[in-house]
Amino acid sequence: MTAQEIRRAYLDFFKKKNHVNIPRASLIPQNDPSTLFTSSGMQPLITYLLGQKHQDGTRLVDSQTCLRMQDIEDIGDNRHTTFFEMLGNWSLGDYFKDDQLPWLFEFLVDVVGLDPSKIYVTCYIGNNDFGIDKDTQSAKIWQKLFSDKGIDSTMVDIGSEEDGYKKGMGEGRIFFYDGKKNWWSRGGSEEFTPIGDPCGPDSEVFYDFGLNHDPAYGEFCHPNCDCGRFMEIGNSVFMTYFKTDKGFEPLEKKNVDFGGGLERIAAASINNPDVFEISLLRPIVEKLETISNKPYQSHTVSMRVIADHLRAATFLAVDGLKPSNKEQGYVMRRLIRRAVRYAFDLGIEQNFFEEIIPVVISLYQQDFEEVASNQSEIIQTLINEEKLFRRTLNKGLRELDKILKLSTIVSGQDIFKLYDTFGFPVELVLEEIFKKNGTAKDDWQQGFDNLMNKQRQLSQTAAKGTFKGGLGGQSLIHKKYHTATHLLYQALRDVLGNSVVQRGSNITEERLRFDFSHDKKMTDDELRQVEDIVNHQIDEDLVVSFDEYPTKIAREEMGALGQFGDRYGEKVKVYKMIKSGADKPFSFEICGGPHVDHTAQLKEDNKRFSIIKEESSSAGVRRIKAVLK
Ligand code: ALA
Repeated sequence: MTAQEIRRAYLDFFKKKNHVNIPRASLIPQNDPSTLFTSSGMQPLITYLLGQKHQDGTRLVDSQTCLRMQDIEDIGDNRHTTFFEMLGNWSLGDYFKDDQLPWLFEFLVDVVGLDPSKIYVTCYIGNNDFGIDKDTQSAKIWQKLFSDKGIDSTMVDIGSEEDGYKKGMGEGRIFFYDGKKNWWSRGGSEEFTPIGDPCGPDSEVFYDFGLNHDPAYGEFCHPNCDCGRFMEIGNSVFMTYFKTDKGFEPLEKKNVDFGGGLERIAAASINNPDVFEISLLRPIVEKLETISNKPYQSHTVSMRVIADHLRAATFLAVDGLKPSNKEQGYVMRRLIRRAVRYAFDLGIEQNFFEEIIPVVISLYQQDFEEVASNQSEIIQTLINEEKLFRRTLNKGLRELDKILKLSTIVSGQDIFKLYDTFGFPVELVLEEIFKKNGTAKDDWQQGFDNLMNKQRQLSQTAAKGTFKGGLGGQSLIHKKYHTATHLLYQALRDVLGNSVVQRGSNITEERLRFDFSHDKKMTDDELRQVEDIVNHQIDEDLVVSFDEYPTKIAREEMGALGQFGDRYGEKVKVYKMIKSGADKPFSFEICGGPHVDHTAQLKEDNKRFSIIKEESSSAGVRRIKAVLK
């Protein structure tokens, strides 16, 4: 099956098991300041996994686009990608292991057609310190499933990954590992589970590509060995707990969170361990072969990096992001620039996005309406950045000329500057120095590495800071800002007219940020009017409540506000803010929540709503930052 066929078959399979197919969430998390990107299927659903009712019921299925930048240095091997789709099926307090594992097995073996003898699974070994049992139930379910296919399956206790290299697999098919491997939370193993996050033991499925073990990785092979023989293709998390400062408390209702990498399942289905050979990546690689007139076999790493990064950048553009020097925009810029740099390795020195981005789009437009309908904007965004970067590179060349005029021996510091400020690939700098009859200082590499390490440490510290924020969606101050955002949206429409449409929103404990369509700077008078309206609605103590409506009725007949480009399922939750006794709500907006119950809560501690900044965000889009102070 092609990857596209697998995605469709997966969604259909679970729809037949009474799941509602929910649309993917944006790669840019809305109202969750704790992470820059959506990096797993469960992230947009956290509040529901913690017990809030989901409008589409207790069984959900989706294919969630994910971006994992922590993998960026691994791109180039045959299995890692920054961008990927995670097939998900969700039980929100509904079915559990007895149903989920057999369905998954049926899908992989009977629908996708994987050979069951090439499937190996892992389960959680338990942890006495935390009082959490070994997951023998899952192991027994697996044993029965294999046995129904005529396969004997021995269980083997492994423990840690390190133990795996020492013990090897023996005759095993079902393996027990510790929490570093078979426990899932957004932070990792038991001890790194963030407070307030749902978590639990998981059971992973591995596909055996039948390659010989590479002892460079450890003495013996085992499913979690990275030598390339095994690839993880799916993970069923049995979310049983949430973490508090006291330890693990049982969730009121247990959930299942299954995540399976579409690209990897597709690789297994063609029995090829190289995910870049699947139908969602191979055409991009082929186009690169055509443009560069070089074969994939001899330029594998560069082609993988370019294909990966451009697919990721394309989807960021689909989700409305523009390259910039901050936060997500910076990451997008980095992906694009890395792709351009790696293209130099293929001898591609001219603009090539105009040729290649349409290929990326063609792979997704049939299945993602938002890709089809925004094609020209997506292409333009990426082309603009490509051109800008080439201009920067030219500036870098001029900078190099200046450096060479001072001395023909170039230091590591200068090379780092060209790399860091002008985005110059190091090899290219060396080549240019050589072409211009200069040389690099003997110890240039050391000087360069020192600066590079310093920068890495800085960015790691920044990334940690982002995560430390914890789950933004939960605290009271966060709810207040969320409610204030709805009031602000309506107030802006009251003052500037109904052409104002939300283009983005982001909330931290300190402020709200709101992007909206409007083509000129707001006047001081307009800003004051907006503030007054919001504060007035806070004083009026509107009652906040929500109801669910069919999307069409909410949008077309009831005029519920939404966000530009958002995709909604069949039903939506609509939040209403209305003065007691009034017949028309002040605000009526599609939203997942959560909010405060009464708007007067926003003025607790004598706080007032105040706009601290109004600025341009991108063409035709304004950005407001506001606080309750
Ligand atoms: N949430 C689980 C994962 O990302 C399924 O692996």
